[in-house]
Order: sequence, then C-alpha cells, then structure tokens
Amino acid sequence: MRHLLDTKTLSREEALRILDVAEDMRDTQSREIRKLPTLRGKTVVNLFFEDSTRTRISFEAAAKRLSADVINFSAKGSSVSKGESLQDTAQTLQAMGADAVVIRHGASGAPHTLATSGWISAGVVNAGDGTHEHPTQALLDAFTIRKRTFGDDSRGRDLEGLSVTIVGDVLHSRVARSNVWLLTSLGARVTLVAPPTLVPQDVSAWPVRIAYDLDEALASGPDAVMMLRIQLERMTAAYFPTEREYSRRWGLDAERLAALPAGSIVMHPGPMNRGLEISADAADSPRSTVLEQVANGVSVRMAALYLLLAGERTDTTAEEDAR
Ligand code: NCD
Repeated sequence: MRHLLDTKTLSREEALRILDVAEDMRDTQSREIRKLPTLRGKTVVNLFFEDSTRTRISFEAAAKRLSADVINFSAKGSSVSKGESLQDTAQTLQAMGADAVVIRHGASGAPHTLATSGWISAGVVNAGDGTHEHPTQALLDAFTIRKRTFGDDSRGRDLEGLSVTIVGDVLHSRVARSNVWLLTSLGARVTLVAPPTLVPQDVSAWPVRIAYDLDEALASGPDAVMMLRIQLERMTAAYFPTEREYSRRWGLDAERLAALPAGSIVMHPGPMNRGLEISADAADSPRSTVLEQVANGVSVRMAALYLLLAGERTDTTAEEDAR
C-alpha cells in the first residue's frame, strides 16, 4: 500500500488486510511490553491543519508503539499561519526525511494533492480532509463492529448481513462518507437518517437507504447505530430550528436506546455533544463502543502505518514481527 487516502477506492481485499493486520496489532497491545521494533528508523510526520485531539494522539501512539520517530506539526503557531503554502510545508518535510505524512486539512482533496503532487516521496495517510473522507475512522469503526459481532473469530470476515444506521449531520461528515463506502464494500447494509437539510445533494448516487424518521429506522433493529456529531463549526446557516428540537427528533436518548434489540451497539466517533445528538445514558451505556473505538483506533492506525512503511517486505508478516 502506497497511500491511504480514502475508502471509496479501497478494495474489499485491501480493507480486510488492514483489519486483519489490526487484529495482530491489537493482540500485541495486551502484552506487558507493547512496543514493537517494526518501524525503527522511520519518521512519521503528523501534519494537522485542523484541530484534533483524539486522531492526532492516536496516530502518535500508533507510530510510537511501532518504534517510529514522530514529528508533530500543527498549523497553529507555524509558518502556515504566516501564509506558507502546502507545497512549501511538504517540501520542508521531505527535506527532513519524512517516510510517512499523516495529514488533516480543512480542504477536501488536500491529502490527494499531497500524494500526487510529486512534492514528497513519503506515503500519505488522510486523517480527515474537509467534508470528504476520514478513512482510518471508518476502518476503526468497521473493526469495532466486526469485533463486537464475531469476537476472537473476526479475522478474514466481512460485514455481510449486518445493518448499520448512521444518524445526524451527514452533510458535513467525512466520517459518514468514509463509512458508507467501506461498510457497503464489506457487505453491510447502510441506512442514513437525518433532517432533510443535513442530507447531501449527491446522496442518490450512494449505495444507501435514506430515512428521515429515527424511530422508524431504529424499529428495524440495526446491528449498529452510529451517531454523528453536529458540526456547528462547519454550519453557515440554520439547518434545524433549535437544538432541543434536534435532540427530540434525531438524538439518541434513553428511551430510544431501550427500544433497540439487545445486541445492537451504539457508536460515536467523538467528540460528542452530550445532550444534543446523544444523551449521557446512551453514551455511557454498556452498548456504547465509544471507548472501544478509541482503543481500536490505535491498532488500526498501527496496521495502516505498518502496511505503508513496512509493506514492501513480503518475507515477514505483522504477526512474525510481533514475536
Ligand atoms: C471526526 C472528525 O474529525 O471528522 N472526529 C474524529 O476524527 N475523532 C468526527 C467529528 O469531528 O465529528
């Protein structure tokens, strides 16, 4: 794997390979010594032009547990705020010997530009670009669904026959987009539920079912319900009357939680607006996988970095390396 830019062009086989390597990585994380020597001597640069806590820390932990050197570069307080272009920043990183660049950027397509520009030779991982994609988030979500469904029997399995309902601010969500492509390519049925104002215009071309009534959608008993954050910072207009009205119609509260079948899980990529799209009861219930998603995120990002940076070595597997 040369880059990880999106899930739309990721094949089912490539996705399963990442998820299976992530299983190996996860196994190593329950050991007393969690650090593997695999990426010793490699440099991973975290290039964050947008605020992030969990994703940046997750990539940092993943790279460090594989023994890579990590350079964190956030655009605030850097020359970028003095107007330095993506090209100049990239070329500086190249001169410093970056082997992989993990980029988060407010502009959709920035990681793709970086990967195809010829400015750098490093592998590029998209950590969220505008409203476009967030592939490692979708991979950790798929990993979490698979793990909750099949447990120790997860390796090699796809999500055929499972149904996932994604609820909320689909319009502004790169998490929703990446999940739609990935989950459907793994065989899951995806339903999107949102107010009509938060449904993207091009959604008719997506392999999903659209619904506007949350109670009706939940009545079909989805295996996973994924709540999206209302992205107030990306909203330039009033997309719903009031926050109270939004939670009443599209929020996951105790009552809706109780109506779900016993096995259904509740997901959220974080950060959560507690009391808006998800109530505290739902966020903290045993069905909630919010913290599992965070933990699995490290394993999935370890897998992605491993496949990007050590992938050319076909003589060893992640599992052998981990011994
Ligand atoms: C998501 C993001 O940044 O797209 N969060 C994350 O990666 N942890 C979702 C969000 O911000 O709502």
